[in-house]
Amino acid sequence: MDSIIVRGNGPLKGQIPIAGAKNACLTLMPATLLSEEPLTLTNAPRLSDIKTMTELLSSLGAEVSSLQDGKVQAMSSHNIDNHIADYDIVRKMRASNLVLGPMLARLGHAVVSLPGGCAIGARPMDLHIHGLEALGAEIELKDGYLHAKAVKGLKGATIDLAFASVGATENIMMAATLAKGTTVINNAAREPEIVDLATCLRAMGAQIEGDGSSSIEIQGVDRLHGATHPVVTDRIELGTYMLAPAICGGEVECLGGKISLLGAFCEKLDAAGIHVEETEKGLKVARRNGRIQAVDVTTEPFPGFPTDLQAQMMALLCTAEGTSVLEEKIFENRFMHAPELTRMGADIEVHGGTATVHGVKRLKGAPVMATDLRASVSLILAAMAAEGETIVNRVYHLDRGYERVEEKLGNIGAHIERVKS
Ligand code: EPZ
Repeated sequence: MDSIIVRGNGPLKGQIPIAGAKNACLTLMPATLLSEEPLTLTNAPRLSDIKTMTELLSSLGAEVSSLQDGKVQAMSSHNIDNHIADYDIVRKMRASNLVLGPMLARLGHAVVSLPGGCAIGARPMDLHIHGLEALGAEIELKDGYLHAKAVKGLKGATIDLAFASVGATENIMMAATLAKGTTVINNAAREPEIVDLATCLRAMGAQIEGDGSSSIEIQGVDRLHGATHPVVTDRIELGTYMLAPAICGGEVECLGGKISLLGAFCEKLDAAGIHVEETEKGLKVARRNGRIQAVDVTTEPFPGFPTDLQAQMMALLCTAEGTSVLEEKIFENRFMHAPELTRMGADIEVHGGTATVHGVKRLKGAPVMATDLRASVSLILAAMAAEGETIVNRVYHLDRGYERVEEKLGNIGAHIERVKS
């Protein structure tokens, strides 16, 4: 398992290109199952999760070719000869459950393994099931697999989501594109990845309105055609790299970044003392003079503060002036980075879904362990301003969501190297 060695250093300078969004690509790729015609995604990120989704779609009979060094995913689902999404692939990546809605809509049946829990939580699928059953699907859990069928096809319905679930909104929206009649999803997720999926589905001939708001209306159509769609910029990679100059000082321009992708994250950066400026190429980020100020953070569905940036924000607040309180409201176990940051000298108390961070002057390098995707990058950010050397182990977590992280951070002056083992 590779490790990454980071040595604390001074201010950063330069530009970081922000890739296409992992969490958009992982829902756009299953959309190929909705049409017999080819779907091509450009600006795709080069990540292990994309490889896993490629493996899953290929196991169903789709043809997926990664072109131009992986930045283009050319897909054709003309021949889908398997309707079973196997546990061995699904357990590696929860987003595999996003083939359920498209397969039901296209084939009328699907067998998809439940993903099982992951490090940050149980990750149930009750909202996906409730929504698809409202469209007329019959879904039964047997031997850890969801057996879903819609022999008479899917029918439009009004669905009230108990929670603005991103995945459930995506599965229901994709299924509804080929259902007979009108579907309305209330309390729908509003993330930019939902808007990106709706944009791609409209390019394929779907009739969707209201994406980005909490009520989405879909008029079912008989079939969808092929399309070419650019994957939206990754707002979580963007927010992650904006925190690099915030933590280390200096000034960095995040190419392709837009404030509209970030919701409450930018307000919190401003309150902490970080200056963010939109340029022609992206977002320029610099620490205003003086120490970072403590801020309180509560994670919420978009446009609230993103849960996927909570760990990275905690890395910033470890050396802020004052005490910050972070509330994790989306997942039940998403503070695993806290004990690792404590090994570096951070002063953090975790009680259930609340972490209280008492700012210290500076962290000290130490051997630490990555536990999940976002926790791993939070440790790297903290290490970049710590005294001495930090070794981050189990960085396979990192490669799921960040392409070439040591190259991108190295190019702006970080002392970071990957050690193959
Ligand atoms: C998506 O996961 C993202 N993953 C997650 O990013 C992100 O953290 C999450 O949305 C919230 O923004 C992808 O897009 C591939 P949810 P998803 O359904 O769809 C509960 C990362 O680091 N829930 O909005 O699984 C669930 O347990 C990953 O890139 C139910 O109770 O998130 C959780 O507590 C991590 N029943 C909350 O809702 C359901 O049927 C949010 O889940 C579905 C979800």
